[in-house]
Amino acid sequence: MEILETGIDTRDSLISVRLDSIKRIIVFASGKGGVGKSTLSAHTSYILSKNYTTGILDLDLHGPSIPLILGLNQYMVKESQEGIIPPEKNGLKIMSLEIFMRGRGSPLRGNSKYDIIKELFSITNFGQLDYLVVDMPPGTGDEFLAALEIFGNKGEMIFITAPSIVSWQVTRRAIEIARGKIKESGVIINMGKSETIHEECKKLRIKCLGNIDYYPYVIDGSIENLEKTEYLKKLNDILMNSSIIH
Ligand SMILES: Nc1ncnc2c1ncn2[C@@H]1O[C@H](COP(=O)(O)OP(=O)(O)O)[C@@H](O)[C@H]1O
Ligand SMILES: [Mg+2]
Repeated sequence: MEILETGIDTRDSLISVRLDSIKRIIVFASGKGGVGKSTLSAHTSYILSKNYTTGILDLDLHGPSIPLILGLNQYMVKESQEGIIPPEKNGLKIMSLEIFMRGRGSPLRGNSKYDIIKELFSITNFGQLDYLVVDMPPGTGDEFLAALEIFGNKGEMIFITAPSIVSWQVTRRAIEIARGKIKESGVIINMGKSETIHEECKKLRIKCLGNIDYYPYVIDGSIENLEKTEYLKKLNDILMNSSIIH
């Protein structure tokens, strides 16, 4: 704990140094779980890392899955004077609580979650990045509010929904809570199509960036096997058309 008796949290100045060294921060969020946030954020970071210096920060403290999805098989972190250097896979820099928990559960609540998120971001020396992709857990609780506070001025949020009204109704609440606190990139409908959600996006005045179908090979596909698939091409097209990649 670095909160001094003066009430100054020394991590705040470190956080602003970190933010200054990153050009764009793309946060994947949704009210719902199981809609593809981790999958799409991990694969987006993979696509970006081919042409840009990219990092990914996994903020799903209870169910971190980014190292697994990206097939990270060595969790070695290096120390430097400017902080911990995260492990890399083909140049993509990956930071997740999983690197420290290694399969163990993390029973956390309230302020300790907020503390861990600040700690994780402030200790990580990503260096200069073109893109930092952030994977959020479901819901609009501690992690979501912490991300809005830390990345609000600089980040852009993509909302992922499944093509169901149940999923949309929960995602809509997340959009409304985030509105005005962070730039909105738009909505991706994942694992199917939905004209209704397209219409709902119009009503809410948020861009619908497109839809990605359900591709059974995504579930167990290693990232290398997804190369040249229709799925990865569709995700790439959405990123190109949505000004995430310009
Ligand atoms: N377009 C897709 N086609 C097929 N399976 C998908 C697709 N998107 C995600 N999945 C699968 O759905 C499950 C949930 O995705 P995940 O990214 O973990 O969701 P979240 O992070 O929103 O909880 C995973 O098993 C993932 O492989
Ligand atoms: Mg997830």
